[in-house]
Amino acid sequence: MTMADIQTVAVIGSGAMGAHIGMVCALAGCRVTLVDLNADALGGARTSLEQFTQRSVEKSKLTARERASAFDRLAFSTELAPAVAEADLVIEAVIEKLDVKRALFADLDELCPPHTILASNSSSLMPSQLADATARPDRVVNLHFFNPALIMRCVEVVRGPATSDQTQAAVVAFVHRIGKEPVVLKKEIPGFVANRILNAVRDEAISLLEDGVADIADIDRACRTALGYPMGPFELMDLTGLDIGYYVKRERFELTGDPRDQPQRSLAELVESGRLGRKTGHGWYRYDEHGSKEELDNTTEHDTVKTDNMAEEI
Ligand SMILES: NC(=O)c1ccc[n+]([C@@H]2O[C@H](COP(=O)([O-])OP(=O)(O)OC[C@H]3O[C@@H](n4cnc5c(N)ncnc54)[C@H](O)[C@@H]3O)[C@@H](O)[C@H]2O)c1
Repeated sequence: MTMADIQTVAVIGSGAMGAHIGMVCALAGCRVTLVDLNADALGGARTSLEQFTQRSVEKSKLTARERASAFDRLAFSTELAPAVAEADLVIEAVIEKLDVKRALFADLDELCPPHTILASNSSSLMPSQLADATARPDRVVNLHFFNPALIMRCVEVVRGPATSDQTQAAVVAFVHRIGKEPVVLKKEIPGFVANRILNAVRDEAISLLEDGVADIADIDRACRTALGYPMGPFELMDLTGLDIGYYVKRERFELTGDPRDQPQRSLAELVESGRLGRKTGHGWYRYDEHGSKEELDNTTEHDTVKTDNMAEEI
């Protein structure tokens, strides 16, 4: 399988990630079928892609003709078997549950032609956790896109111990072809590269706070003004949802047993009291009804940054 061979793609799961991944591939000229068990999810994906790409046309990032031909190449279906019957590459983007993904990979192995590469977009599960659900472990790999996939350029390519060099070369070439930047991991590791670095920054920020070294707003300010980050780690946690990071850490701790992987006390207290970030109006910071950040007791008075503005920068 070479890059030229990947013409037909099936994306399984039409949620936040799958919808964008399907459109990225269709814009690059592939024939794509976006599959979901849930017809409403497929309808929602179509609507959100129509709106997103319409805005891209209005901003002159895409022509109306390119948009129309991409939609001509993109089919929506609740039927798995016909969608994957001629697929050269399947990208799985369903719910982050190992048993669901393993059952799906076993089905895909039965339904796909022998040459098909099976890729997972999982943020944390490694290829070796899925490969042995199939009879083609050499053609199982992770292609980890970032959210929102139509904008973010990075795709992490993660090979398991059984993934062949040929599979890796084919998907790296494919990632280039769809206009993304592949980041190739030489071996699998939970969390991969970008999220491990992000998590390390978050852990250090929380540790500086819990050790009384600096306040939340000052730690965020250091990251923005000294390191050039578009937003500080506490602001970013509030944006993505504190519960996400909390559950990722809990799962990591279950896997490793390493006390450093346990959710920190201050993070656990916030999540357990329902302070999940911007979506609940209160996380590390408090937000008013317009989404503007209000002062917390432990923030400095001169902090007037609004995270809603920064959210547009990333
Ligand atoms: N959300 C993110 O920021 C992000 C970023 C990178 C990677 N990921 C990974 O991408 C995957 C999907 O995440 P998401 O946020 O798009 O999830 P989501 O919940 O938005 O969408 C999942 C979709 O999969 C569908 N689905 C579930 N089981 C299915 C099955 N067996 N067959 C077909 N469809 C099925 C659901 O109906 C739903 O529409 C996860 O593995 C996640 O770890 C997420």
